[in-house]
Amino acid sequence: MKKMLMVSSALALGLATTAAKAEPQAEVLHWWTSGGEAAAVKVLMEEFSENGGTWTDMPVAGGGGDAAMTALRARVLSGNAPTAVQLKGPSIQEWYEEGALGSIQGVAEAENWDELLPQAIQYHLKCDGEYCAAPVNIHRIDWIWSNSAILEDAGIEPPKSWDEFNAAAEKLQGMGILPLAHGGQAWQDATLFEAVVAGLGGPDFYRKALIDLDQDALTSDTMIDVFNQMRTLRGYVDDNFSGRDWNLATAMVINGEAAFQIMGDWAKGEFIAAGKEPGKDFFCSSPSGGSYLYNVDSFAFFNVDGEDRQAGQQLLAKLTMGKNFQKVFNLNKGSIPARLDVSMDDFEFCGRQSNADLNTAIDNGFLLPSYAHGMALRGAQAGAVTDVVTAHFNSDMSAEQAVEQLAQAVAASQ
Ligand code: BGC
Repeated sequence: MKKMLMVSSALALGLATTAAKAEPQAEVLHWWTSGGEAAAVKVLMEEFSENGGTWTDMPVAGGGGDAAMTALRARVLSGNAPTAVQLKGPSIQEWYEEGALGSIQGVAEAENWDELLPQAIQYHLKCDGEYCAAPVNIHRIDWIWSNSAILEDAGIEPPKSWDEFNAAAEKLQGMGILPLAHGGQAWQDATLFEAVVAGLGGPDFYRKALIDLDQDALTSDTMIDVFNQMRTLRGYVDDNFSGRDWNLATAMVINGEAAFQIMGDWAKGEFIAAGKEPGKDFFCSSPSGGSYLYNVDSFAFFNVDGEDRQAGQQLLAKLTMGKNFQKVFNLNKGSIPARLDVSMDDFEFCGRQSNADLNTAIDNGFLLPSYAHGMALRGAQAGAVTDVVTAHFNSDMSAEQAVEQLAQAVAASQ
């Protein structure tokens, strides 16, 4: 039987009992270290301390969270898990299956989370039917961010398909302008790849290829087209892209050194932190024809000793889903609230667009969990796909060879 520690039996009775006894403590492991990310997490730190808690910050730099996950494993193996950890998708279930996670069902019931969260994302946050993670947001991944001055000078509209993107990039290259700011890290290559899969293949193909890992889809002509488009994108990137952090690539678009970046909407947090306005200084568009690739950042609560730390978990879970917190955090982070009842009136153009597209995608069945950001596949399987994607992007491997390697790597990971 899987073990689920009830964070405190007092949970079922409400928060007051434990909170009165112990001062809430939380050591929080996350990877929000860029300008926009740090501004966002600061909102939670402040709310936590205003509510009597003591926050010990454990930031582990590294976009996409690979370094943070390595740090987490070392902590858990040494028997000293952090109180709360930024986690996503199937990795929540994986930690739960190892017996490492506690339940926050008491807080979730008291605060009515089942009514407040979209049905489509609840399953990511539950372990054996009980909430084991508290969501902070919904990020959209498949965005093209563009420098509006460059596009206007070149007479280019924000691209809404890969064909439009390629035409725009060719034109810009002809004018001596770098089309695409990209950081050569495996997770960033994977971020491009899944947007290409969704855009060229559509939602059914995406599901077959990157959720079901269906061999026919992985070896199809469409997948060959996907790798060819990846090769085309590689041609739009500068020579110094290797190892560049994602926020430095965003800065290239902000500063007019490149026209586009393809990245999740945490990039918007960087534009906002730099004082830039969507629709004026920069544009957002999606190449995915109605598909919506998403991830949900959340905090999972590890089994910890001590009433103060358990009280910290309860307080953090409650604050994370607070209505005002979900608004202010996401205004900084670039994402949209996970809570359904937060008004989008205070959000800027791209935030409102994301929310509208999300609702349409839910209605149309076009809502797709991101493989590159840990929402679709277990770690070993996602790693197998990413290894091939990044090996292809960083070599002269043909699309046909990549497809063959992809099929083999996926089969071996299952
Ligand atoms: C996370 C974001 C984070 C981004 C860059 C994504 O996987 O979901 O919260 O801002 O990585 O580090």
